[in-house]
Amino acid sequence: MATYDTLGTTYARTRRPDPRIAARIHAALGDATDVVNVGAGTGSYEPSRTVLAVEPSQVMIAQRPPGAAPVVRAVAEHLPLRDGAADAVMALLTVHHWTDPVAGIAELRRVARRRVLVLTWDQRVFRERFWLVREYLPEAAAFDDDRAIPIDRLSELLGGARELPVPVPHDCVDGFAAAYWRRPDAYLDPQVRAGISLLSQPGEDTLAPGLARLADDLTTGHWHTHHTDLLNREAIDVGYRLLVTDH
Ligand SMILES: C[S@@+](CC[C@H](N)C(=O)[O-])C[C@H]1O[C@@H](n2cnc3c(N)ncnc32)[C@H](O)[C@@H]1O
Repeated sequence: MATYDTLGTTYARTRRPDPRIAARIHAALGDATDVVNVGAGTGSYEPSRTVLAVEPSQVMIAQRPPGAAPVVRAVAEHLPLRDGAADAVMALLTVHHWTDPVAGIAELRRVARRRVLVLTWDQRVFRERFWLVREYLPEAAAFDDDRAIPIDRLSELLGGARELPVPVPHDCVDGFAAAYWRRPDAYLDPQVRAGISLLSQPGEDTLAPGLARLADDLTTGHWHTHHTDLLNREAIDVGYRLLVTDH
């Protein structure tokens, strides 16, 4: 069973595409005529030029909206596509879930005629800049240390890539790990956490002490006193990166 067959049951509820992030992704795709989306999940950020989505989890596939691109059940490591099958291939917030990222990235490059796009995050920047993992849940960050692929390594596997920062808006619609940086109460909601693998995979017991401290700090006002600098910010860069490569 694919991991997201258990993790992904609420995905379509909390993980809707954010229009500002969509605009960045679509700009990075440029004039690519046709796009394959690998690790496509429920279809977030797929432009209308998407000709095929590739996704291993049946639970995620079942949440794709009517009218979404056709989908094939497969993994990045073995794409059921010929060489150069699409002008552009994209893989968004998925590479860290792959069992063999080296093979998967090689497959993206094989199938793309022109452009490969990967949305990921820089774990070093994330740990330093995102208050939730820095101050409350270092255990969750440690869990990600093992699966996050360093940007330099990913860039090398891509044969060199442009690195574009993706700031997270304060009201980000897509409920990924840092989406609620200015809405800290959200992290106390189990349904929100269920849509974030960083906060659902380590297990509730691991997270409980940090979450209890956060709940306390929100009740006493300590969090707000400590983070006044964040309260008027529109967006912050906590390390999400689009890697773009042409060949
Ligand atoms: C966090 S979701 C991202 C989904 C979508 N790209 C998005 O941005 O909303 C990660 C997705 O990667 C998929 N995945 C896990 N292992 C994979 C693999 N080896 N090859 C392709 N996709 C994989 C999961 O099933 C899940 O749908």
